[in-house]
Amino acid sequence: MFKREQFGDNFKWGVTISAFQNEGAPKSDGKGPSIWDTFTANTNNINNGDAIGDACDFYNRYEEDIALVRTLGLDVFRFSISWARILPYGRGKVNQAGIDFYKRVIDCCISNDLTPYVTIYHWDLPQALDDKGGWTNREIVDWFIAYLEICVKAFGDKVSNWVVMNEPMSFTGLGYFMGYHAPSRKGINHFLKAAHHTVLCMAQGGAKIRELQPHANIGVALSCSYIKPVNQLPKHRRAAKRMQAMLNRFYLEPLLGLGYPTDVMPALKIIKTFFRKGDEERMVFDFDFIGIQYYFRVVARHSYTPPVLFADEIPPRARKANLNTMNLDVYPKGIYKLLKFYSSYPQIKELIVTESGVCYPDFLVKDHVYDVRRMKYHQKMLKYIRKAQQKGINAGGYFVWTLVDNFEWKEGFEPRFGLVHVDFETQQRTIKYSGKWFQSFLSKTASTN
Ligand code: BGC
Repeated sequence: MFKREQFGDNFKWGVTISAFQNEGAPKSDGKGPSIWDTFTANTNNINNGDAIGDACDFYNRYEEDIALVRTLGLDVFRFSISWARILPYGRGKVNQAGIDFYKRVIDCCISNDLTPYVTIYHWDLPQALDDKGGWTNREIVDWFIAYLEICVKAFGDKVSNWVVMNEPMSFTGLGYFMGYHAPSRKGINHFLKAAHHTVLCMAQGGAKIRELQPHANIGVALSCSYIKPVNQLPKHRRAAKRMQAMLNRFYLEPLLGLGYPTDVMPALKIIKTFFRKGDEERMVFDFDFIGIQYYFRVVARHSYTPPVLFADEIPPRARKANLNTMNLDVYPKGIYKLLKFYSSYPQIKELIVTESGVCYPDFLVKDHVYDVRRMKYHQKMLKYIRKAQQKGINAGGYFVWTLVDNFEWKEGFEPRFGLVHVDFETQQRTIKYSGKWFQSFLSKTASTN
């Protein structure tokens, strides 16, 4: 159908993991607690009661895991830094052992001929900062920039690709609006404050990296969903536009200098009550790439609840969608529509799909995991990314979520997304069929089906 070479010589083939979901070792070598350590300490917070324990023990097995990335034929390894490993209390005294750990990880990438993409923040806020209000406290802008500066100074000699933040809508929406994720805060006020501070941190963080490392390649990774109205009735189309504003535009447009998307949601204007003089400019930064992360489609309809949004989602199960383990609507074609949508912003220089993946139940039978559906998912994603490229869209990479099965936040260990299976009792890794497909597809000489 297609070959690796067709995506271009500079196309980046990668895989993404995150500190909290993979590392384990929550108390090792001076690490402080994060909001996710607190949240998971109460296993009632996790849907199936799973205890995270040592997750997939990346802290001790990083050499084995990074070698697997190379075995699969990928070139980029994207991982995040745990803020509380570097600064156990979020600010103040630096934990040298934490710095040393990530230096070893980076060296290991380089010796495996992998390019590290380093995410500064993937949701695991130090608990000590949450005790002071966390993302709802404006001081977080200073705390975040100080932490980011430590990272760039410590690792910048070997790292030049930075993702300032991962999926702001996920951690502010789920953690500060719905109370579903850590730190379990609820309500529009918490959300809007946290959101505005997050935007400032992204833009100011980007600017700080540029100042410290003028030639760095700097991006943010944003969650996005393909949204369609249930039918063409004007009220449902308007509802879909509001959802589009919340899920796909809210965190992007301020960074591009367009402000929050109040055109279709005038009620969002109340976010300005959290502005200080000069914030309009402070929210803008000229990123080198925008990471888009796509997992599912949303079918929207008008609804009087919740207010502000006046839209809700028709549950995927009710419309007999193609479901993954998390009951989300798996729809690879959505990536094409999203790449098209994002490419309509002239300010965006490059789009990279910095995460996509799918969770299905996997079965390890005689050392094999025959996950054909996952393989097909990634093949379809690549087909649509290629189609976008053919339409002239600058889609510069595909990073699979994820390398090894890991801890899926509130969902515990049940949803498995990895190209590599993990037996969480023994920590044994087994490359799945999907991983083997990548291995053969990416081997420089091979073409594919
Ligand atoms: C997040 C990951 C998460 C994945 C699968 C993304 O929203 O960045 O941390 O595990 O989706 O749900």
